[in-house]
Parts: sequence; structure tokens; C-alpha cells
Amino acid sequence: MKRLIVNTKSKKYPIFIGQDILCKFNHFKKKYAKNSKKILVISSNRIPKKYLTNLRTNLKDSKCYNIILPDGEQIKQSVYIIKITNLLSKYNFNRNDCIVALGGGVIGDLAGFASSIFKRGINFVQVPTTLLSQVDSSVGGKTGINNKFGKNVIGSFYQPNFVLIDINTLYSLPQREMVAGFAEILKYSMILDKKFFNWLFKNGKKIIEQKNQRLISTAIYKSCKYKSFVVSKDERENDYRAILNFGHTFAHAIETITHYSKKIIHGEAVLIGMILASRLSCKLGYLKKKELGDIIKLFKKFNFNYSYKKFVNKQNANNIFKIMNNDKKSDGKKIKIVILKKIGKSLVIKTTLNKTFIPLIKEDLKNGKY
Ligand SMILES: NC(=O)c1ccc[n+]([C@@H]2O[C@H](COP(=O)([O-])OP(=O)(O)OC[C@H]3O[C@@H](n4cnc5c(N)ncnc54)[C@H](O)[C@@H]3O)[C@@H](O)[C@H]2O)c1
Repeated sequence: MKRLIVNTKSKKYPIFIGQDILCKFNHFKKKYAKNSKKILVISSNRIPKKYLTNLRTNLKDSKCYNIILPDGEQIKQSVYIIKITNLLSKYNFNRNDCIVALGGGVIGDLAGFASSIFKRGINFVQVPTTLLSQVDSSVGGKTGINNKFGKNVIGSFYQPNFVLIDINTLYSLPQREMVAGFAEILKYSMILDKKFFNWLFKNGKKIIEQKNQRLISTAIYKSCKYKSFVVSKDERENDYRAILNFGHTFAHAIETITHYSKKIIHGEAVLIGMILASRLSCKLGYLKKKELGDIIKLFKKFNFNYSYKKFVNKQNANNIFKIMNNDKKSDGKKIKIVILKKIGKSLVIKTTLNKTFIPLIKEDLKNGKY
């Protein structure tokens, strides 16, 4: 088992990464949420039941409740927060008691937000079960729900007591979700570590196809290490944490116009966004053509789609630009864009879309090759 410490201003907490460690939940709980007499596990109907059974192993000292929610992004809504907090009140949970998120990023964001507001904050544990949530959303304390105007508009920064990553939960995860998680792993390498990028080039296929648990565990460990390094420096995204948005502004625009449907899932949109951001880095004179070529080579090797033809056309392009301008990272005029100086080195620039994405996308649309 591997262990990492996240050291933010508001909280210091461990991440445990290993195989078959769900059944050790009680062991970690005793140390990192020791006064919790009651536990509410929040999960969804797609998560195999045995994960909940394993998590409850030896959990004799605490009273354990669970709530199984429908699957999908639509549960990141205020009605579910009310449902969860009503349940907590009904069972007399106090601030020492604990919420456990057992599921992907959707469950983690919802459960984390509920934890942060119930009685102004109760203990919270992340048990992520998708690759994306294991390498990204379970670490760093961003929690939130959506409203009808946008994604994660209502939220908080609320760090968990600990994160328990059992890589065996990935066995039941569909291949498409493995690719989506891999996109975020690849992101860390592109913005922070060229050696890691080369390592992923070599080993990525075995990770995505789940051919080697040791490689998966190393990729998760490295990703969590980078995520915790960044959030430890800048927990509330005042500046540095923004590098984690590499490829995400365009990705969010694609997700918004497709209404967060299964037509394209987050990680797939990020893959497209990262290629566009790399091309932009090259066009603006930061990234060398050779390095852009290396990135495209990796995408081709793994058969990753990076064409956005299916989602953007002459008719909806202005809408896409409008969505990008309304991004949380925009002040209405200028927008923060993450650029690659080289593979493994990134910087955030504040500029207008007119100087960056708009000409590039318009040129693509004109040429028809994108
Ligand atoms: N808080 C953050 O920092 C942060 C960062 C990135 C993404 N997010 C959020 O995370 C969400 C996306 O997370 P996600 O990609 O994990 O999606 P998700 O939670 O919707 O999970 C994807 C699918 O996999 C299923 N699933 C989960 N674990 C499984 C398992 N072990 N076996 C089989 N099926 C399983 C889910 O039920 C779902 O159908 C979005 O809402 C996004 O906004 C948050």
C-alpha cells in the first residue's frame, strides 16, 4: 500500500492507495475519524454492492447507514442535498459523525458539499471508485452541485479526513471511463513532468486496458502526488492551481453544448481540449512543433479522439465562444488560459479569446480539417 500526505492550509490528511483495502476502512476510520459514532455512506445504484459490503467489514463500533442514489450528473442538485441532510438530521448525526462518499466524482462532489454545510461541517471521507475520481476529484477539496445555469456553481472548499483508493474497484469500471480518467493522468504529465509523459507513452495502454495493477497504482500515486503538490501550494485557486485547468475551458464548452450527456464524457472532452490548447501553445510561439508532434503521436498511439468536428460547427461556434467567455475562470473580458511552454512545463496567461481560441477555431472551421 502507498501513502501520501496532502498538506493544505485548512487541513492535513492522508491518501491511501492499494489493492483490496476497502475492507480496511474501519482501521483508517479509527485513526482519522475516530470520534465518528455514526457513518452515512453515500453511493449510487451503479456501484457494485460488494464495495459497500467490503467497506462495512469490521465496522462494529459505529452505526452505519447508507443511501443509494440514482446514477449520473443530475444528482448534483439541491434536492439531493436536502434529502441527505434530512437523513442526517433524522438519525441525529452530529459534527463528529461522518459522511463517506463511495463512488465517482459525482458522488464525491455531492457528498463533500453536504458534509461541508451540514451543521457547518462534519467529518468526510472520500472512497473514489472511478479512475478520474481517484486521480483528480477526491483530492483537493473542491465540492459542489449544479444549478440550471451551470456546473459546480454552488460549492465549497472542504477537505476530507482521508482518501481511500482501492484500485480493485476499477475492475468493474467500463473502458470508456478508464480512458476518461487517463486523460487527467496525462494532463499532470503534460503540465508538470516530461518523464512521466514518456512513461505514460510507454505504459499507457496497459493502464487503460487494466493489464498491470502495479502500473495503475504508480500512475494513480504520481497523479495524486502532483494534485496534492498543486493544492498544497494554492488550495483555493488564487493562482497556481489554475494550471490544472489545462484543456478544460474548451472541454467545458463542449460538455455544456452537449448538455453533459453521454455523447461525450468529461475526460473525453478534456482530451480534445488538451490537443487544442497544445496547438494554441504552438501557434502562440511557446511550444515547439516537434513537441506538439510528440503529443499527437501519443494520442494516435492510444487511438484517442481529438477531433471536435462532431461538436463544433459554423452555426454553433459563436455559442461555444460565449460559453468559454462565461467560464468561472473569466472576468467577462479576459480569460485565464493554460499554455504549454514545453511538455512538462506550463503557464497561465490572461488574455482574450480573440487573441487565442477564436482565430484558431475559425481557421479550423474554414479548412474543414479539425
Ligand atoms: N471536485 C473536483 O475537484 C472535481 C474534479 C474533476 C471532476 N469533478 C466532477 O466529477 C464528476 C465526474 O466524475 P466521474 O468521471 O468519476 O463520473 P461519475 O461519478 O459519473 O462516474 C462515472 C460512471 O461510472 C460509474 N461508476 C463509478 N465507479 C464505478 C465502478 N467502480 N464500477 C463501475 N461503475 C462505476 C458511475 O456510476 C457513473 O455511471 C463531474 O461531476 C465533475 O464535475 C470534480
